[in-house]
Amino acid sequence: MIYATVIISFIINLINSPLVSSSWWSLGIPTSHKEILEIKPTSAKAHCRGLSSLEDNQKQLCELNHHILQAISKGAKLGIDECQHQFRRNRWNCTTFEDHPKIFGSVVESRSREKAYIYAISAAGLSYTVTKACSQSLLANCSCDNGIRSKTTKGKWNWGGCSDDIQYGSLFSRSFLDSLEDNSTADGLMNLHNNEAGRSILKSKMERVCKCHGVSGSCTMRVCWRKLGSFRGIGDELMKRFDGATKVRLVARKTKPRLKPITKEIKKPSRRDLVFLEPSLNYCERNETLKILGTQGRRCNATSLDTDSCKLLCCGRGYHTMVRSVQDKCNCKFIWCCRVDCQKCMVQKEEHFCN
Ligand SMILES: *[C@@H]1O[C@H](CO)[C@@H](O)[C@H](O)[C@H]1NC(C)=O
Ligand SMILES: *[C@@H]1O[C@H](CO)[C@@H](O)[C@H](O)[C@H]1NC(C)=O
Ligand SMILES: *[C@@H]1O[C@H](CO)[C@@H](O)[C@H](O)[C@H]1NC(C)=O
Ligand SMILES: *[C@@H]1O[C@H](CO)[C@@H](O)[C@H](O)[C@H]1NC(C)=O
Ligand SMILES: *[C@@H]1O[C@H](CO)[C@@H](O)[C@H](O)[C@H]1NC(C)=O
Repeated sequence: MIYATVIISFIINLINSPLVSSSWWSLGIPTSHKEILEIKPTSAKAHCRGLSSLEDNQKQLCELNHHILQAISKGAKLGIDECQHQFRRNRWNCTTFEDHPKIFGSVVESRSREKAYIYAISAAGLSYTVTKACSQSLLANCSCDNGIRSKTTKGKWNWGGCSDDIQYGSLFSRSFLDSLEDNSTADGLMNLHNNEAGRSILKSKMERVCKCHGVSGSCTMRVCWRKLGSFRGIGDELMKRFDGATKVRLVARKTKPRLKPITKEIKKPSRRDLVFLEPSLNYCERNETLKILGTQGRRCNATSLDTDSCKLLCCGRGYHTMVRSVQDKCNCKFIWCCRVDCQKCMVQKEEHFCN
């Protein structure tokens, strides 16, 4: 009886496995990330080949050298961490599940704006870390963007230093991620659009930084280069695009199927806007099969008017309050010079949790 169950579940796993194919995001979870950072250069190739979470063409790119494997892992982690930061106050908080092949659970099997965010932030994350690896001369095919040096600056300053080569990073992100998508289906086109939105925002947030050279602080020569903006800034911008995401549908044309807004009144999404096909679940109640945790037990804010307010976060179920004594600094005095001395005292802190 036990054997029969084992065999049956084995067969079910076999049947299911191509459907629940794993994904590159798993390279960004803490355990794999740590392992990849410690990998020996010589074992990177075998490591990439053995990764069931990568498709064949992704394995080929990963195999190039251990720095690219590390950049991929860092890119996945950057995206996951930023997503969790941005959604920390929302009902869906970008939870990851190490035991789920798709890491984010069923959200990435939906067609929602949450999925759009995940795709955009991780495509941007991958471009970001690959571009940074280029600037550090870790990869064979890229380095600093020296093409920019020939651009005119009207003599006010000079291009110099190491400009980040976003071109290569984006190209890599495209080959690695976009190749998985089918551009004749609505789902494929949604993912392709959102991947590109992430990369495009990354590019738009590049900054010029300058440094002065000259005797004793004078600025006789000013040298500038272009570098990637902070990834937090990318996450923030994508969050605005998440709030304003456009609901689209597939318009089948003979030659080129395309996505269009669901009604004529809605303006066409730009390259940098996020698009989605179906409304989101409310993420209020726990659902084991869908890997949705629900908001019961989440800490909420009784005075906030935002998504973390007890009203919104708890989905109308109400909340309970707990008073906790915490140690805090108090009676701080400034002691000349230069030190601040504090006493420790216990303060009562109210915390609210969703029912
Ligand atoms: C790197 O450059 C080599 C030689 O030009 C080329 O064959 C290879 O496809 C390039 N790889 C990537 C990832 O760009
Ligand atoms: C879809 O992809 C194929 C193969 O990469 C390409 O030839 C074709 O132009 C693409 N179609 C659209 C609509 O982008
Ligand atoms: C979880 O979601 C699935 C799909 O929507 C639904 O069929 C199922 O009843 C839900 N389970 C619970 C416990 O709500
Ligand atoms: C997300 O919410 C769940 C409960 O719903 C909680 O256990 C988890 O720690 C939260 N994750 C993050 C990253 O805040
Ligand atoms: C609750 O929200 C208010 C208003 O947004 C904010 O000032 C306060 O710091 C928040 N409290 C906590 C514990 O996060």
